[in-house]
Amino acid sequence: MKFTLNVWRQNGPQDKGRMETYQVDQVSDDMSFLEMIDVLNEQLIGQGIDPVVFDHDCREGICGMCSMFINGEAHGPGRGVTTCQLHMREFSDGDTITIEPFRAKAFPVIKDLMVDRSAFDRIIQAGGYVSVNTSGNLPDANATPIEKPDADAAFDAATCIGCGACVATCKNASAMLFTSAKVSQFALLPQGQVEAADRVLNMVKQMDLEGFGNCTNTGACEVECPKGISIENIARMNREYLSASLTSK
Ligand code: SF4
Ligand code: FES
Repeated sequence: MKFTLNVWRQNGPQDKGRMETYQVDQVSDDMSFLEMIDVLNEQLIGQGIDPVVFDHDCREGICGMCSMFINGEAHGPGRGVTTCQLHMREFSDGDTITIEPFRAKAFPVIKDLMVDRSAFDRIIQAGGYVSVNTSGNLPDANATPIEKPDADAAFDAATCIGCGACVATCKNASAMLFTSAKVSQFALLPQGQVEAADRVLNMVKQMDLEGFGNCTNTGACEVECPKGISIENIARMNREYLSASLTSK
């Protein structure tokens, strides 16, 4: 397969950036999108041009690193897949593909397609944990019964991989879907109750400090989320936040 690629090139956070156009051929339809960029980079290196910088790690849909906008959609045209799980057979031979970094004030571009998503780490540091005894004398997991629907909903929330597609897709660059998933995975379980009020207050405060926008319930985040995180989590976080605001000193 052959493709024309319009790729965002930016030397650093202060650089204005620009689109560059490249041709790639000898792309197999079995290649992942990242493997196709590997082919492009081999070609660029051969021509003495700087390869395109992009983030990746696991290449199997679990680390959340491969953040990029493909033809105007976070993680490209597929649903429920990350960029590394997107295959070139989803495109037609001869297509022109536009590739850009995730764009949000809180995600500054480091270089080309790589953005700094450490704002998410700071939201987690503000409260996305439980203080549990890990000394080895843990209670048996079955000693605390949990209703199956709650266990399932907590597990679903915990599948968020922190990729940032929700932020990049949202017209307000809101991080509510991400933050609410991280709040919900604890809010639904007894182990999460100890720090529940502080957790939601501190995580929302950090989210606002990082410069993410407000949620206006468009639901675009849910559509583009590769892990199918539901906006029901946002409603749950809002309830948790209201309750914590009324009961905390
Ligand atoms: S909620 Fe979905 S889109 Fe947002 S960071 Fe988590 S996995 Fe990515
Ligand atoms: S590289 Fe890990 S999710 Fe894509």
